Amino acid sequence: MSEPRSMSGKTCIVTGANSGIGKETALGLARMGARVVLVCRNAEKGKAALEDIRRESGSSALDLLIADMSSQASVRALAEQILKKYSRLDVLINNAGAAVRARTLSADGIETTVAANHLGAALLTILLLDLLKAGTPSRIINVSSEAQRRARLDMSDLQFERRKYNSFYAYGQSKLLMNAFTFELARRLEGTGVTANCLHPGVVATNIWGADPPLIFKLIIALVKPFMLNSKEGAEVSLYLASSPDVAQVSGKYFVKSKPAESSPLSQDPQIAAEIWQWTTKMIGIQMA
Ligand SMILES: NC(=O)c1ccc[n+]([C@@H]2O[C@H](COP(=O)([O-])OP(=O)(O)OC[C@H]3O[C@@H](n4cnc5c(N)ncnc54)[C@H](OP(=O)(O)O)[C@@H]3O)[C@@H](O)[C@H]2O)c1
Repeated sequence: MSEPRSMSGKTCIVTGANSGIGKETALGLARMGARVVLVCRNAEKGKAALEDIRRESGSSALDLLIADMSSQASVRALAEQILKKYSRLDVLINNAGAAVRARTLSADGIETTVAANHLGAALLTILLLDLLKAGTPSRIINVSSEAQRRARLDMSDLQFERRKYNSFYAYGQSKLLMNAFTFELARRLEGTGVTANCLHPGVVATNIWGADPPLIFKLIIALVKPFMLNSKEGAEVSLYLASSPDVAQVSGKYFVKSKPAESSPLSQDPQIAAEIWQWTTKMIGIQMA
């Protein structure tokens, strides 16, 4: 990144802020003077991250909220707390994400990868839209992945009920849904002063690769590890989209290395985007025309 930017007076939310890219993103925003709301699913890990960020940034404008992004009740409770506590929101960074090794179901009975990576982020975003509109110009930033390119999208089986579950395809599909949803959301937010963009942070050495990944992943990780970014480098695109005046008016784009990039053709197909929007709003129980 170029010279430091000021985010003084701005309120920013970062989900998954206790480790990896999210923690570095929260730290970067705190260093720029923003009030940062860390959303973490584990209170102990969240408190430890908040203390680290406080120490490293010297900022005391840090709040911690606890939520499991795969649980819609938890996301709704989170949104309620945010709406009570803050009167405006400048930046929402949907960063929390996981690659789930075996097919499991969330508290709502939804396949966990899509529940946590896509539906939780979509629900939080929609519940906070009025707050974002109160903070205009404001920015929604969805941390996606180049894995969306390799996704095997099956609109009739998004939860791997009939297909054999594969964590890599489930992860990629959740990010493809996130990109398509971001583009459709951006279209719907045109003229409101709220932008919505998504990004690939790079290939970053974080916990997402898991303590015990499948063999094929282990081999890939061993091969690419020397070339992986560290978490600070992995936070650069999120921080650029959160703070740069260059992208103040930019919406509906996918960023790689802080530059607009072509997202997968499937994620840009208007017919598929409409289906994904419909499926998403149905799954999160929100009516939107
Ligand atoms: N690392 C990469 O190479 C890479 C590449 C492309 C995209 N990404 C994306 O970057 C984002 C950050 O990942 P990372 O690489 O920094 O990995 P990470 O270190 O594992 O961080 C992921 C964060 O998300 C949180 N999280 C996961 N599931 C959650 C849930 N159900 N509810 C609430 N929080 C949850 C984790 O909390 P816990 O600590 O409690 O698990 C953690 O704070 C993810 O969206 C990931 O898909 C990463």
